[in-house]
Amino acid sequence: MKVQLPPSNKELSSTLSRSTKELYVKKIKNGTVIDHISAGHALDVLKILGIDGREGHTVSVAMNVLSDKQSKKDIVKVENRELAPKEVDKIALIAPAATINIIRDYEVAEKTRVKLPDVIKGIIRCANPSCVSNAGEPVEPRFTVERTDPLKMRCYYCTRIMEKQDVLEQFYA
Ligand code: CTP
Ligand code: ZN
Repeated sequence: MKVQLPPSNKELSSTLSRSTKELYVKKIKNGTVIDHISAGHALDVLKILGIDGREGHTVSVAMNVLSDKQSKKDIVKVENRELAPKEVDKIALIAPAATINIIRDYEVAEKTRVKLPDVIKGIIRCANPSCVSNAGEPVEPRFTVERTDPLKMRCYYCTRIMEKQDVLEQFYA
């Protein structure tokens, strides 16, 4: 006669942790999932998107969750909202490994990895107050990206080096 034994504590806890993992942030029906955000930068992404919670979009945020490679990441899911190209470029500055997933009717309809162009124009200002791009002249800020992670870019006009912190300060200014 075969006796069905109740599951051991170990089995129970492994089932539990698996289902907990799956439930971290539930799937969305329509909208955008910004995944693989550098750990700790989810709130900066919301800042870039101008989301403070009062627009009425349903937004889910997961911070410092384990990604496959034993490293940590943040995730932001915004329902019923797609991103403008400028917003994607700004996200690339602070989260160079982020992926943008467009969700339609529960399926990933499009997946793109953010990509910083070699030359950045217009989306941020030079941190040097005496730079010609800050002199009130019609000079569009322009930077050459020398490294993406950690970020290092050089002003085309005054050669000032800009890093992630300089960029973040502007987003919150
Ligand atoms: N996602 C979601 N709602 C859906 C479909 C997907 O929130 N209806 C989320 C997933 O949870 C995941 C991201 O969108 O965070 C990308 O989904 P998918 O491509 O299915 O996952 P992976 O294959 O793990 O993606 P990647 O290879 O980019 O890590
Ligand atoms: Zn400059």
